[in-house]
Amino acid sequence: MRIAFLGKGGSGKTTISVAYTLYLAQKKKQVLAIDGDVNMHMAPLLQTDQLWVHKHASDVQKYLEPALAEKGVPIIGTLPPTADAKYINVSKEDPFLKKYATVGLEDVPLLTVGTYESKDAGANCYHGKLQVLELMLHRLKDTKDQTAVCDMTAGIDALGTSLYMASDVNVFVVEPTLKSVQVYLDFAKAADEHSITTYALANKVVDQEDEKFLRQHIGEDMLIGIVPHSTLLRKIEQGEKGKIYDFVEINEGVFGRIEEKVSGVNRDYQAYMKELNRIYRLNCEWWYNDFYGSDLTKYIDESVNYEEVFAA
Ligand SMILES: Nc1ncnc2c1ncn2[C@@H]1O[C@H](COP(=O)(O)OP(=O)(O)OP(=O)(O)O)[C@@H](O)[C@H]1O
Ligand SMILES: [Mg+2]
Repeated sequence: MRIAFLGKGGSGKTTISVAYTLYLAQKKKQVLAIDGDVNMHMAPLLQTDQLWVHKHASDVQKYLEPALAEKGVPIIGTLPPTADAKYINVSKEDPFLKKYATVGLEDVPLLTVGTYESKDAGANCYHGKLQVLELMLHRLKDTKDQTAVCDMTAGIDALGTSLYMASDVNVFVVEPTLKSVQVYLDFAKAADEHSITTYALANKVVDQEDEKFLRQHIGEDMLIGIVPHSTLLRKIEQGEKGKIYDFVEINEGVFGRIEEKVSGVNRDYQAYMKELNRIYRLNCEWWYNDFYGSDLTKYIDESVNYEEVFAA
């Protein structure tokens, strides 16, 4: 299963992503952490290093789509898997993860997309770097009892890539403020038009008035849980990193509800593939065909069926 945490800048995406990752790992569930944000903060909280996967984009393309890469075909992030595609398993032993993931607390593998380098200044957009994550997620062979937890870019930005539809559940972290709620409502409306359900998770809730405010603006059915404001976070940010476990313990109930919601989803593989094909076609027609001077839509491999891939 795949869950993405989104939210306005500073709402708590990284904190909640790491805490939920540790919650699952402590229950001995297989979990893969993915830092897909331009502001990369998962590694320090998981107490590990970063390996910037985007810097290895061409090797990743060769690994995941060897036949097309061999022929020199341009491989863009939304390319649906071909019959020759390689898949990634949610396991420390997976050869792709052995190469590109670092290992954090509780032995959790962490993939970090990476951020800008000085040479990118003024000329390079983060969505270019996120293509490597799109390529990976669309080839992640996760099972029902394994989870990939993605920390995503801030605000409504995820709608600009295929990442908004790559997870089984999107959880938007919302602070009790009008601005934070509005960003959630904007995202949820757009995602809903593409049949992607996005729940809201209240964070930094101080009192009953905060709670009432969020319930009024979001509605009971979409509010997946409430995480109280915690002074532990300041301590963690001051270097007492082990306190993240206390934060996990305090919020076990909320994480349990999220886990329940995620495990209740039955992925519609056909709809996923259809949407991916649609987005890839749009990418090609709006931009990449002209850029590469070739019709890239011919690389859609109609013989591939996710249901068969996942059943194998
Ligand atoms: N429940 C909470 N109680 C108190 N402080 C919190 C809580 N959750 C997060 N914080 C604090 O809020 C700040 C932002 O959190 P975090 O970095 O997780 O947000 P983010 O959405 O990932 O931010 P960015 O947009 O920069 O990636 C941090 O200082 C964090 O410690
Ligand atoms: Mg963050």
